[in-house]
Amino acid sequence: MHKNILKVTEIVKQLSGVEVLYKVSFEVGEWEIYGFLWPNWAGKTTTMKCIMGLITPENWEIEILWDKTLSTQTKSKIGFMPENTYLYKYLTGREFLRFNGKFFWLKWENLEKKIEALLEKVGLQEAGNKYLAEYSKWMLQRVGLAQSIINNPKILFLDEPMSGLDPIWRKMVKDLIVELRNEGTTIFFNTHILADVESICDTFSIINRGNIIVQNKRVKDLQKSLEDFFIEEIEKSNNSLEN
Ligand SMILES: Nc1ncnc2c1ncn2[C@@H]1O[C@H](COP(=O)(O)OP(=O)(O)O)[C@@H](O)[C@H]1O
Ligand SMILES: [Mg+2]
Repeated sequence: MHKNILKVTEIVKQLSGVEVLYKVSFEVGEWEIYGFLWPNWAGKTTTMKCIMGLITPENWEIEILWDKTLSTQTKSKIGFMPENTYLYKYLTGREFLRFNGKFFWLKWENLEKKIEALLEKVGLQEAGNKYLAEYSKWMLQRVGLAQSIINNPKILFLDEPMSGLDPIWRKMVKDLIVELRNEGTTIFFNTHILADVESICDTFSIINRGNIIVQNKRVKDLQKSLEDFFIEEIEKSNNSLEN
């Protein structure tokens, strides 16, 4: 087991007076690909926003990159692709990446090289000088992904990165995740696509209605098909929540 790069302890979060996270706890080891599952409305995005410091929970302890305070130094080593990225429509792809890169004090030539490499990685070289207003949905997803790794993050958070139905996009994102992990990045991603967990994750947790119902499970320790395992766990959890 590697050292834990992320340790989340008992997050409690209310939204509009309703508790949407109940003591959410889990741990992510360094260099893992970690999947956070599963149903819609479970609390995945809310958990990720708490970890990123975008919203403040009622109760929590979050240690990320061995820091409990989410310092600026720590933030500079984190990458994040939100579910719906807000993008400045009147910047070109290149300008958008340049704008984001400047937050990380990258040297000018290094940044320009990095931007070209990223555009190539996500298949947008040709579109780099077009305004984002002219991008299609899948192109916006790609530029959002490129943005999230411009700082060579130590840990990368992706909220439903494979939710587009396009199989070519899904394959590209999966390959990229594996490539990044092989280069030393830890990846934590939200998903409801089981096949993607099975094919690339080392470890996963399942959250259902704000409760962690399976915690830090190794994919290779599964005794049955992933699908059967999930359905059983969700049914058990729904039954016990209703009683
Ligand atoms: N701004 C909000 N105000 C009130 N409830 C919210 C708000 N945002 C999300 N929720 C509720 O929080 C729960 C978890 O949502 P979310 O974290 O987006 O789930 P997921 O990402 O797993 O689909 C849902 O029940 C949702 O309705
Ligand atoms: Mg979500």
